[in-house]
Amino acid sequence: MSGDALVKAALAARDRAHAPYSRFHVGCAVESLNGEVAVGANMENACYRLGICAEQSALAAAQQAFGLENVARLVVVGGFADAGEDIGEAVMPCGGCRQAIAEAAQLSGRNITVTCHDHRGRNAVSTDIASLLPAAFSL
Ligand code: THU
Repeated sequence: MSGDALVKAALAARDRAHAPYSRFHVGCAVESLNGEVAVGANMENACYRLGICAEQSALAAAQQAFGLENVARLVVVGGFADAGEDIGEAVMPCGGCRQAIAEAAQLSGRNITVTCHDHRGRNAVSTDIASLLPAAFSL
């Protein structure tokens, strides 16, 4: 899938975020080595600590769709629900999500490309999990 199409998939997933508490809506698209795509969005809870991030939501879907060991690329988009049209900062995966992405990379022995964007899919920051989480914990 082209980079643009993957950003569109992440934006569509973001439209399904459930984030009434923070109002910060995040979408994520995960692509497999064969071009299959799984998506997720953040899902918050009235018991705040139970909320899950978009990346972990998408990785859980990816595990079901094609297996974590086949994850090649991950795209994240996000920003506040009322952010408007001004260009925003690219949303970078939180520490916990970095560890979850590292789990997929450890399974395959391959690095995973991570591209982060603002709430409209602009302002790309392109990196990879080895750079985002060097010396990652593993068992
Ligand atoms: N969030 C994500 O979905 N991914 C991240 O990498 C950072 C934060 C979500 C969690 C919470 O629902 C909201 O953004 C504000 O922290």
